[in-house]
Amino acid sequence: MRPQLGMHTLTDGRGLLFGGDYNPEQWPEEVWAEDVELMKAAGVNLVTVGVFSWARIEPEPGARDFGWLDRVLDLLGSAGIAVDLATPTASPPPWLGHRWPETLPVDESGHRLWYGSRNQFCPSSPVYRERALAIVTDLADRYAAHPALALWHVGNEYGQICHCDESAAAFRTWLQDRHGDLDALNEAWGTTFWSQRYSDWAEIIPPRRAPYMINPTQRLDWQRFCSDALLAHYRAERDILRGRTPGTPVTTNFMGLFKPVDYWSWAGEEDIVSNDWYPDPADPLSPARTALTHDLMRGLGQGRPWLLMEQATNGVNWRPHNLPKPPGQFRLESLQAVARGADGLCYFQWRASRFGAERFHAAMVPHAGPDTRLHAEVRAHGQELRQLAPVAGEPVPTQVAMVFDWASWWALEERGRPSDRLNAPDQLLSYYLPFWERGVSVDLVPPSAELSGYPLVVVPNLYLVGDQDAAALTAYVHGGGVLMVGPFSGIVDPRAHVRTGRFPAPLREVLGASGEEWLPAPEDRPVRCRWTGGTELAAHTRTGGAELAAHALTGGAELAAHALTGGAEFAAHTWTELVATEGAEAVAEFAEGDLAGHPAVLRHRAGQGVAWYVATMPEPVALGALAGRLLADAGVRGVLPDLPPGVEAVRRGDVLFLLNHGTATVRVPIPHAADDLLTGSPATGHVTLTPRAVAALRPRVQPHFGDPLA
Ligand code: GLA
Repeated sequence: MRPQLGMHTLTDGRGLLFGGDYNPEQWPEEVWAEDVELMKAAGVNLVTVGVFSWARIEPEPGARDFGWLDRVLDLLGSAGIAVDLATPTASPPPWLGHRWPETLPVDESGHRLWYGSRNQFCPSSPVYRERALAIVTDLADRYAAHPALALWHVGNEYGQICHCDESAAAFRTWLQDRHGDLDALNEAWGTTFWSQRYSDWAEIIPPRRAPYMINPTQRLDWQRFCSDALLAHYRAERDILRGRTPGTPVTTNFMGLFKPVDYWSWAGEEDIVSNDWYPDPADPLSPARTALTHDLMRGLGQGRPWLLMEQATNGVNWRPHNLPKPPGQFRLESLQAVARGADGLCYFQWRASRFGAERFHAAMVPHAGPDTRLHAEVRAHGQELRQLAPVAGEPVPTQVAMVFDWASWWALEERGRPSDRLNAPDQLLSYYLPFWERGVSVDLVPPSAELSGYPLVVVPNLYLVGDQDAAALTAYVHGGGVLMVGPFSGIVDPRAHVRTGRFPAPLREVLGASGEEWLPAPEDRPVRCRWTGGTELAAHTRTGGAELAAHALTGGAELAAHALTGGAEFAAHTWTELVATEGAEAVAEFAEGDLAGHPAVLRHRAGQGVAWYVATMPEPVALGALAGRLLADAGVRGVLPDLPPGVEAVRRGDVLFLLNHGTATVRVPIPHAADDLLTGSPATGHVTLTPRAVAALRPRVQPHFGDPLA
């Protein structure tokens, strides 16, 4: 039996991890010694080495040069810095593509992509695989017993897609496994449409560039295949590593809501979930988007601590116009990750490159050197993370689950649908925002998750749903859960075939409502809607008003005005549906146009629980009012009752993190006397947060802040 490995394997005795990608192959050895001294001074205790070292280790086919890497690992090890050793297989040397062009990826137009950059491999290429596994084997043999080795980092940011003939052959094999015979494939792909029937497996190809829209099920299966093909390669590397070092955890770095790879199917294949995340300083929604991404990482690890493998201390270089981060910004972002379950805070990269495509990307040591404002902040941050050692390993308590699914995402965003303005990640973010603003922690979960432990489950969009998952959502409500479902959910089955009958067919019974038409709205005009002030709601407002008010955290007045008060109006946009109640109460109706008087939001008591359906895209303040109402239905409250705008509140273990993403200095009332772990100062009554300030409050006595478990 393999021991249970996880972040604790790394944090035991070290506390939170701090460090970054270290690329010593770009520097003469004299610089390495200075690097290590600077790392020690900054409290660096983990570095990722070797991500792009294939050509250095194997300068020509079959050769091996490990001497330099031995010295790097020895140097780091003797300084007490743990090594996250990467398999170098993300960027093969030019000789591989030169001698074996079939290892190079081919795009959907049939063009080969060349070396001279990185990521140039075909996941299904036997030659690539053989060469990659050979170097991984030698690397693992060489360093299995090295004392600095703490973690394996397989490849880098998996996401390669290749349309070559070898990929086509692998796709066919994958399809045979999935569908069995050609008749089943023809049936699943609906090939009677447009004369697409296949009579021989050899005719089947990846969805290459074609004159017009491509079969959506072919494309859906292709996306499943591409994710699985990469996973197969990851597993092959991982198994070599595990075979030689059963006690060393293995990870590969994810990229948040990255479309090409189904991370639900990957996460269980690694010991530690890790993520690369680069919030855009120009995006006002960055703090919420980032929180959502962190919650996804925690969800992928089923609540366990995760590792922020890469982030940036300052501007990146790969956006067209790269805004810098003001002083205090990267610290705020790093602490946001800690608050949301990260036990390691690492950066790309340690020292800024002098040459190569990323020479203008921020680093922990900038070109100007260590005697700089930025490096001083790096050093201070590394030191202060020691104060947070008590949160390492601690869970983030949650009572709300939000369902997200890659296959549904792929299927939803296929061409040829009523509107391309209803997208899965945007829809997810818009439903996530009101909970984030209210200090309500959310777990991101797959549709197959066990939901019964959550008082509230939100499904922003689940266009594709299997029978079993739909039945589980129904059973969840009957068993006493509160469920909210967003528009255009339950529309297709796992083959992307429309489920006929009134929609959403598999959820119709639990929602107590059904629809017959999707009506995308003109772009330039919001759709007026009106809360109906239904009987149940009025009753609830009388009894539950206080609780609702307590949730009016960010826009109190506005929320009150929109607190589902009968007659009050709100705007919706982009998407509407013609829906009729079949037992549900219309909480809101459309107030104009052909849909005037038809339900826009419905609430249905089903069994012991309540199901809500939202047949449009309400403006944020209305979604906020709905979220507040749902929380009241579910008896869930935010971690603090009164949060100023821009302040994120999240509890980890017994520590309440307050993070000021806003531009104003704010006073946040706190109900218990606490100590701020970051400053060591006591806090009573309230805390004052300047812009970008963070408090990490540990209560002096029970109960914990907003204890949802109490
Ligand atoms: C990714 C990669 C790194 C580097 C950074 C730049 O996260 O993994 O190698 O390219 O982006 O932001």
